Amino acid sequence: MSGIEVEGGCRLAGELEIQGSKNAVLPVLAASILHAGVTVLTHVPDIADVRASVEILELLGVKTQWLGHTLWLDAAEAVPGEIPRQLGERMRSSVLFLGPLLARFGQGCLYAPGGCAIGQRPVDYHLAGLEHIGARLEVEEGKIQAQAYSLKGGLAELPYPSVGATEQLLLAACGAEGETQIRGAAREPEIVTLCRYLRRAGAEISGEGSSVIRVNGFQPVRDEIRFRIPGDRIAAGTYLAMAAMTGGKLHVQGIHPGHLWAPVCAFRRMGCELRLLPEGIFLAAPERLLPLPCLETAPYPGFPTDLQSSFLAMMAVAAGESVLEEKVFENRLAMAGELNRMGACIHVDGRTARCSGVERLHGARVRGTDLRSGAGLVGAALAAEGTSLVEGFEHVERGYEGMLPLLQDLGARARKKTE
Ligand code: EPZ
Repeated sequence: MSGIEVEGGCRLAGELEIQGSKNAVLPVLAASILHAGVTVLTHVPDIADVRASVEILELLGVKTQWLGHTLWLDAAEAVPGEIPRQLGERMRSSVLFLGPLLARFGQGCLYAPGGCAIGQRPVDYHLAGLEHIGARLEVEEGKIQAQAYSLKGGLAELPYPSVGATEQLLLAACGAEGETQIRGAAREPEIVTLCRYLRRAGAEISGEGSSVIRVNGFQPVRDEIRFRIPGDRIAAGTYLAMAAMTGGKLHVQGIHPGHLWAPVCAFRRMGCELRLLPEGIFLAAPERLLPLPCLETAPYPGFPTDLQSSFLAMMAVAAGESVLEEKVFENRLAMAGELNRMGACIHVDGRTARCSGVERLHGARVRGTDLRSGAGLVGAALAAEGTSLVEGFEHVERGYEGMLPLLQDLGARARKKTE
């Protein structure tokens, strides 16, 4: 269990080049199994979830090598294998390996990742979609054994634009005969990135970024695939929120502002000045943030649930009453209790948080239960008066590369405390 001690009252200022996207690289790592050759991924974030995915790839016979932020993979001699439970539980996205294993080998075996702090995280849409295109699944005590003598394309309709289920179906469809149509697909930029990689590997795909995606066959290529992971839009929004709540100024380089349009509008409504650059965003915070009478999370292009914690921390110190509705996950407002320990005034009723902003938060010992609430609490600690101890920092390190030195470079007075 690790924590960071944060001295409050600092104004973050400066600029940063954002890391590669966690939620873009994870499905691409699973997809690399489909390419029976070399994939060279650049701008890969060095974070715990990526290291866990690399462990899974090695278990499946993929040769790997890290060279800085470049990850070299050779899946020529990949083999189907069982992904052990503890790896599956350590890294939720391990479930995404099922689709490519079925597509390439006709079989796969892994453990359903199970719930986490923010919700039950079922994978029923994944499994129903795979069965719909011909997979035979046996699920016993969380162990998923899948077989498919031949995957058949067809119409797969998602009842909810699930990011993971869309990725799962895209990966499996690369092994299906005929056209697979995914209706009700997620539209996140990370889906578009995955489709760009699959196209480089030989897939014929159209419609990505819309709610109907078609996969019409997969002609494996032989050549080496060199592919750059885009900047992490959620990490960028997280750091911008930290600057917004500490009265700072921050230029984040390496993201496409259009992929954060809903948060940009919300920052502006809270009184921040934002300049949108071709590959970045500059934010200057107001003396005091304005409240947001209504903010609700939604699938892309709506406001991303992964920035909800950061914005709840901002609302905690805004000058008035804000309301935040968490509409994606059933239990993602737990951080409100930790902010109240810092002097915030937030009342949670189901999926709705009502917040009366206070002038200043005060330092306290708080705990993040997932990477986004951990990051939100770091932001609150930076803005608070006095010193805080933010525990559960190991969650943050699952998705944010080098957050501590990065914040120190921007003026934060913070240091690691391990028990
Ligand atoms: C992805 O999770 C992201 N993770 C999440 O980021 C993100 O919050 C989420 O998409 C929504 O944008 C990665 O990309 C690795 P979903 P995923 O399937 O795919 C329900 C972070 O902090 N659902 O879109 O698991 C589900 O319970 C993480 O980086 C089912 O009911 O999200 C949830 O309520 C957290 N059955 C809703 O759909 C299913 O089979 C959205 O889930 C699948 C999902």
